[in-house]
Amino acid sequence: MGIAYLNGELLPLEEARISPLDRGFLFADGIYEVIPAYSGVLFRLDEHLERLEHSLREIQLDNPHTRPQWKKILQSVIEKNGGGNISVYLQITRGAPAKRDHAYPEHCAPTVFAMTNPIATPAADTPDTCEGVAVITMDDIRWARCDIKSIALLPNVMMRQHAVQQGSAEAILIRDGFATEGSATNFFIVSNGVVVTPPKSHLILPGITRDLTVELCQENGIAIEEREVTEIELKKADEIWLSSSTKEIVPVVTLNGNSVGNGEPGEIWKSVAHLYVHYKRKLCGEA
Ligand code: PDD
Repeated sequence: MGIAYLNGELLPLEEARISPLDRGFLFADGIYEVIPAYSGVLFRLDEHLERLEHSLREIQLDNPHTRPQWKKILQSVIEKNGGGNISVYLQITRGAPAKRDHAYPEHCAPTVFAMTNPIATPAADTPDTCEGVAVITMDDIRWARCDIKSIALLPNVMMRQHAVQQGSAEAILIRDGFATEGSATNFFIVSNGVVVTPPKSHLILPGITRDLTVELCQENGIAIEEREVTEIELKKADEIWLSSSTKEIVPVVTLNGNSVGNGEPGEIWKSVAHLYVHYKRKLCGEA
């Protein structure tokens, strides 16, 4: 089961205990991050910690640690779990005050929890044999602060489960005629040779993988635009990709049962996947 971190202690995951009064349990009053590590090296850590700081600030929860302290904590969990290619799940809640009350408690220590999970070989590592995934569209039923990486994920869980029950890997969400993101991924389309992804707003999570993909396109002369994508554009796209820290960049080959492009991972996806893997190896070494 591995070694977890809980409030300053490293211990076997099955021995970690959290109070039922924890506001994460009672109110989903907390935030989280998922940070990949390759060959034991944390990937884009500063970007993840910056987003963590944003989430904490927006819910008025004091950051319990400095960036060097976070780095030390995360590194220790990775080392205790054998390094290699693993992702760290980090969650901070508003702690466990004596009484359940909606308003924020005063003087309550937060609960800080981290654990690791192995990363399966991402599609971008094997672009020439990757088959791609099926995706459906669904109404975006979430709240209007999707920029906060909140642990309140019931809408995301419901939408992902619906997608899985339809034999799909993910749902791309539609709000007022525009595609926002996936239930646990950002998305890109390719239309007439131009890569497009929705701009950052309160309606999407500012994905670390999304930002890196935008950067890689910009630095390598691949035309990219950050702008709204209508549902119609999504359905007519030549390529669709999903991105997240644990999946990297994944090509979508069917949308609502219809082929995307020629029904195979697209050429621009392949180029960007190569760039992504190259960048990763440069930063973290060979796995
Ligand atoms: N999910 N959008 C949503 C709603 C997400 O939950 C995620 C990540 C992303 C992609 O963000 P990033 O590239 O920073 O991982 C976009 C994580 C992996 C999860 O909940 O497990």
